[in-house]
Amino acid sequence: MWNRNLGGLFLFSQKLPHQSGESAIYSRAEVAKNDGSQGRRKHPGEKFIDCAAGGDVEPFWKYWSVHRNNPKVDKILRESLIGRVEGAAADSEERSPFAGEPERSRGHFKVLSWRPFDAETLPASLAEFNLTPVRDRLYVRNHAPVPSLDSSHTLYLSGVELSLTDLERKYQPVSLVSVLQCAGNRQKDNFRANGPNVFTNAGDSSKLENGQVGNVEWTGYDLCGVLADHFPEEVAEELGQMDAEEEVWHLVLKGADQYATSVPLKKVLRTRGLLATKANGEVLTPDHGYPLRVILPGIIGARSVKWVEEISLQRQELDSPWNKNYYKNSRDEAIHEFFIQSIMLTHEILEGGRRIEIRGVAYDPKTPLGKVEVHDGKTWHLAKMEDMPASGPTPTSTPTPTPTPYGWRRWSIVLDHESRVYKSRATNQKGESQPEVSAKENGYIYNGYGMLDVGGEAPIAGSETI
Ligand code: MTE
Repeated sequence: MWNRNLGGLFLFSQKLPHQSGESAIYSRAEVAKNDGSQGRRKHPGEKFIDCAAGGDVEPFWKYWSVHRNNPKVDKILRESLIGRVEGAAADSEERSPFAGEPERSRGHFKVLSWRPFDAETLPASLAEFNLTPVRDRLYVRNHAPVPSLDSSHTLYLSGVELSLTDLERKYQPVSLVSVLQCAGNRQKDNFRANGPNVFTNAGDSSKLENGQVGNVEWTGYDLCGVLADHFPEEVAEELGQMDAEEEVWHLVLKGADQYATSVPLKKVLRTRGLLATKANGEVLTPDHGYPLRVILPGIIGARSVKWVEEISLQRQELDSPWNKNYYKNSRDEAIHEFFIQSIMLTHEILEGGRRIEIRGVAYDPKTPLGKVEVHDGKTWHLAKMEDMPASGPTPTSTPTPTPTPYGWRRWSIVLDHESRVYKSRATNQKGESQPEVSAKENGYIYNGYGMLDVGGEAPIAGSETI
């Protein structure tokens, strides 16, 4: 029988070189997957598995416990189970790398996974404030345990070690309001419009709705300025080729939890990123990156590395699972930008069912918003924009694109209630709108019309194939 705590021995297509007496052993790099076109695929976490260096891989299983949320992994292991190890210990809480996880309030979240913690904000909780309260309402997307850090944390930049005090002494604090959006947000709408995707294949069918997004005032140090100080030649070289399509340098960001990713430097120089220490005026919480994280407005949340401890530049994209295996579009390229968006969050039926009030948010990280409209099954109606656009970020020493309001605007509308399904559409000041349906992109960055079905679930495209 299958034991969730991996108290068994697993054989992967060959005799395993690394066996310990205690627990499960994973062969080095290959998962038994053959998709025909690419031949055997390497395991995305090959480098991490290599860290076991012939020893027990059980600690790695415990740390990257995200595997246990994926039924594919479960299936592979189930097929490969060849026996049980007597006395194999079940997870003991004190030894778990998750033992020190922060306390989390539950009221405003739908939890998608506890270990690692992955939660989206409930729509009504998101709609209530313009700035999303960070402590209990900003979604959390962790890939591993939260590292236990304090104010002695340092950042390595091009061989230089900077303490938090060094950063504070050297750089002026800058604040900006920006949406943070996970690339997987609106997965459910994507699934409805386009059918199964990587999430559904991994057994996550349509779990994630609209709530992995938030609007926050971030405070920290201008990332482009810090990069220009520490990598002057590379930044100058990239700035000289901003119009060229080729990427010259990639900015590599590593977190203290071993999460790492890279972003083309060009894209970083085009936005106003921060090395953030505060959110909505308060010191960052452990779940959101205390004491230092990167914020890259207009770029998917996956690139805004939390607990950042090392920043470097290299000529190629980083060979990490989060660039090479996940957060990729249907052309197999790493995703970076997200696009104009409107989301319908709450509705209230008024006047005994005759009228309906709908509330939502809209944003466009590139161009200021022009309008939001709602379709009631017959025609489009103009919604009321409720908040003033947040001001653009403070200009700094490096060439600044036109300051863009990176924050969202809440909107509302009251209509005659004559439909079951309502749709929303944002248009920016250049006249560019959300598409009715956007491409599948493996389940990521969906920005088709916002959807509200007040009468129940809308049919899901291709759901019978799951
Ligand atoms: N940074 C580190 N070090 N570890 C992570 O797991 N998750 C990324 C990004 N930065 C992650 C990380 C993802 S996928 C997202 S969407 C955002 O952080 C979420 O930020 P939040 O948890 O503060 O909302």
